[in-house]
Amino acid sequence: MANLDSVLTETRVFPPSKDFVAQANVSGPEGYQALCDEAERDFEGFWARLAREHIQWAKPFTRTLDESNAPFYKWFDDGELNVSANCLDVHVDNGRGDKVAIIFESDDGKTTQVTYRDLLARVCRFANGLKALGYKTGDRSIIYMPMSVEAVVAMQACARLGITHSVVFGGFSAKSLQERIVDVGATLVITADAQQRGGKTIPLKPAVEEAFGLGGCEAIRNVVVYKRADVAGNWEEGRDVWMHDVEAGQSDTCEPVIVNAEHPLFILYTSGSTGKPKGVQHSSAGFLLWAHLTVKWTFDLKPDDVYWCTADVGWITGHSYIAYGPLAAGATQVVFEGVPTFPNAGRFWDMIQKHKVSIFYTAPTAIRSLVKAAEGSPEHHPQKYDLSSLRVIGSVGEPINPEAWMWYYKNVGGERCPIVDTWWQTETGGHMITPLPGVTPLKPGSCTTPLPGIMAAIVDETGGDVELGKGGFLVIKRPWPAMIRNIWGDPERFKKSYYPEELGGTYYLAGDSANRDTDGYFWIMGRVDDVLNVSGHRLGTMEVESALVSHPLVAEAAVVGRPDDLTGEAIVAFVVLKKARPDDAEAAEIAKDLRAWVAREIGPIAKPKDIRFGDNLPKTRSGKIMRRLLRVVAKGEEVTQDVSTLENPAILDQLGKAL
Ligand code: WTA
Repeated sequence: MANLDSVLTETRVFPPSKDFVAQANVSGPEGYQALCDEAERDFEGFWARLAREHIQWAKPFTRTLDESNAPFYKWFDDGELNVSANCLDVHVDNGRGDKVAIIFESDDGKTTQVTYRDLLARVCRFANGLKALGYKTGDRSIIYMPMSVEAVVAMQACARLGITHSVVFGGFSAKSLQERIVDVGATLVITADAQQRGGKTIPLKPAVEEAFGLGGCEAIRNVVVYKRADVAGNWEEGRDVWMHDVEAGQSDTCEPVIVNAEHPLFILYTSGSTGKPKGVQHSSAGFLLWAHLTVKWTFDLKPDDVYWCTADVGWITGHSYIAYGPLAAGATQVVFEGVPTFPNAGRFWDMIQKHKVSIFYTAPTAIRSLVKAAEGSPEHHPQKYDLSSLRVIGSVGEPINPEAWMWYYKNVGGERCPIVDTWWQTETGGHMITPLPGVTPLKPGSCTTPLPGIMAAIVDETGGDVELGKGGFLVIKRPWPAMIRNIWGDPERFKKSYYPEELGGTYYLAGDSANRDTDGYFWIMGRVDDVLNVSGHRLGTMEVESALVSHPLVAEAAVVGRPDDLTGEAIVAFVVLKKARPDDAEAAEIAKDLRAWVAREIGPIAKPKDIRFGDNLPKTRSGKIMRRLLRVVAKGEEVTQDVSTLENPAILDQLGKAL
């Protein structure tokens, strides 16, 4: 997590080289300013022009933005298109069918190449197979798959038929999977028998079986299984079907189903500050436009680039910047099944060298862990590899601390490649505040300035602008095409979460606090709500708390984040047991148990790093848990704040000492 003091005293500035500027898609301050001015002058005209230039419409739109039911904005809403046709057919139809779309590298280092023509044929065969099983526009599917060509095929095939997909990260538990199956009302699950990561085969289909066992999944008619590892498992005839059997004998062509611009392309669950994860609903046209355009702008994509985004398709980054954006832009991209540390800490650098990757996009948590690994095993230091193919490198998911930024810049980017530190969210659909590599002088730790058309600002609790240098809430003042359309099935929560009345009801509230320096650069300070960011993954404190209190031994739990050198934030849980506070030996045993429990309830990423037991939790006289005090205790610091409203001040001492 960026530290306020360190980032605001950061004075280093790294302007782009003249050579880079000369060839950039958006070139120099003039290029950027021209686009910003266009958006200021004629907001709707700006977006309409881009949408006409970057989308192949089956039926052109005549209306750009419909604000009549704000904040349920609609974009291009009388237009019609198919997203998959815009990602695949456009290239095959325009003489680019032989271009490599995906270079897939498996966990064990095998490489396969898939051209746009091949990918289109596979998507069509699978889509035809799904059609034969009776699936059609308006249905919803759950995709629970490892990183693979097949995952991209599954998403694209759904898009081709107008089936709204909801991808669930393969690291989420059966319970998380079941909750999403139920909430989204899915009739189809697409999964794999297993995933292959770090040299291990990890079965995946059993989690689907377990999810079914939890109930509520009766609407699912089929479980389509990609055979990755050929591990035997339970098989229900009639319901379960192999992906290759679904494709077998199907035609290589499949007419794309034309849908409305606002048709929900996908729903992706993400954590909020209260309650269960929310299903973020995205549109077809607006999302596609921005995913495509930001690949060109932010990454400066050119026809000869080899692009690699290391995210998983289970997260928004894998949607916008693997499954859709790069394909729409016609890129050649690397898709990687494995982990950065297998077979050794040089895996990323080896892959960049081998595939001559020119655009590389990863997360600060990966960078930080590789800094540490490089120190531990100098033979796998990035400088031991030929990384000269790189020209743009990126960062996403959490604030990048200036030290990690400098390491990345020097050792990976060779002090030659601009770092695009992209600030955005599941809800924004694509990049919002980011340097443009041929425009923006970089400052380590700052995501710099908003993209053209993105009206980002920092306001106080009443929605008033704050002066430069003063922190506040990050908001977006005008809608944008790729924005979240709704929380699936919960429009009230959508309004409350993102368009609160307190700010006037027309600003999109990001949930982050930010600061703007005197050059107008944005510095993201982290979440203002009860959302944690652990290794770039969003988790709600409430989610982890409810997982903990569902354990039979637990009476009460409070969860907070603590800064962590490796994971950005680490989860610290304060737990009150139904029985007396355990002694140290027993506490260690129970803590182990609780960690495993949380992993089963949510997924391993939600496991608390530190669990402390107390007789009670610090509460006000009205019974409210005082989390701000717990945050201080979690950091191991002395509580210096006012504790006069606290019912039981002695508890802070006990919790501070525990474990
Ligand atoms: C944080 C991931 C600082 C932020 C694309 C945001 C960042 C949340 C950055 C969204 C960045 C993402 N600098 N913070 N470059 N990128 N964040 O929905 O707190 O998984 O609100 O989307 O991650 O996380 P999400």
